[in-house]
Amino acid sequence: MTTQQRTAEVLGDIFAAVNERIVKHSVTYEEYQSAKDWLIRIGEAGEWPLFLDVFFEHTVENLASQRRSGSTGCIEGPYYVPGARQLDSPCTLPQRPDEPGEKLVFSGTVRDLDGTPLPGSIVDIWQADAYGYYSHFHPDPPDGNLRANVRTDEHGRFEITTVLPAPYEIPKEGPTGAMIIAAGWHHWRPAHLHMMVRAPGKRPLTSQLFFAGGNYLDDDVAGAVKPELILRLDRLDGQDGQDGQDGQDGLDGHYAAGYDFRLDPV
Ligand SMILES: [Fe+2]
Repeated sequence: MTTQQRTAEVLGDIFAAVNERIVKHSVTYEEYQSAKDWLIRIGEAGEWPLFLDVFFEHTVENLASQRRSGSTGCIEGPYYVPGARQLDSPCTLPQRPDEPGEKLVFSGTVRDLDGTPLPGSIVDIWQADAYGYYSHFHPDPPDGNLRANVRTDEHGRFEITTVLPAPYEIPKEGPTGAMIIAAGWHHWRPAHLHMMVRAPGKRPLTSQLFFAGGNYLDDDVAGAVKPELILRLDRLDGQDGQDGQDGQDGLDGHYAAGYDFRLDPV
C-alpha cells in the first residue's frame, strides 16, 4: 500500500509539473476546456488503458527493469488476454487454417540468474497477425488466435512456430488517435512479440521482442524499444535479406529467431 506521505509527494510533484508547463506554454482557457473535453472522451471511449500504456507505461517499466538482474522487461500494453490455451513446447500457436504471414520459429531457453534451465516454465505469448491485428481486439482474427501459454520442456527450452507479426498503427479513430493526428505525430509500433514468462519461485517477466531491420524501431509511438530486445532474424528458406516482416516480398518466407530469458528470484 502506498503511504499517505508518498501519495502526497508524488501527486503534488505531478500537479506542480503540469501547472508549470501550463504557465510555460501560456495555455488559454479554450485550450484548457478542449483538454478537459478530450479527457472525458478518453474515458467514454474506454481508451484510458491505450492512452496510458502508449505514453507513460514505458517510463514506469524502465524503472521496474532497473530493479531486475535478469532479462530486461518491456511494456505489457493494452492487448494482453489472460487464460490463453496451454501448449507444451515445441508447438505451433493457435492460428487460422489459412493464417497469412511468413513462418517464424521463435526458440530459446528460460533460465534462472545462474543460468540453470527452468523446465516447466510458462512463456505466455501474444502477438499481432501479419496485418497487425490482435485477436479479441479486432474483428477478424478469432479469439485465441496467435496466443498461448507455452510450457518449456525438460531442458527449459521452448520452440514456438508462428508467423511474423507486422508493424501496426494504434487505433486512429478514437480520442487517442485524434490527439496524435492533431499533434502531427504517427501511430506506428514496430513489429513485435509480447510475452510474460513465469516460473515457480521467480519474478514474472513481461517483455516484448522486436526484429532487426524492421520499421519504426527508432520511432515507436509507445517508446518501448530497447536495443537488447531486438532479435536477429535468420532466414531459413535460402532467400536473402530481412525483408519478411513488412510483407513486401510476399508472405512465403521462413525465419528463425532466438532469445533466452533469465528470471530473477521472487
Ligand atoms: Fe503489441
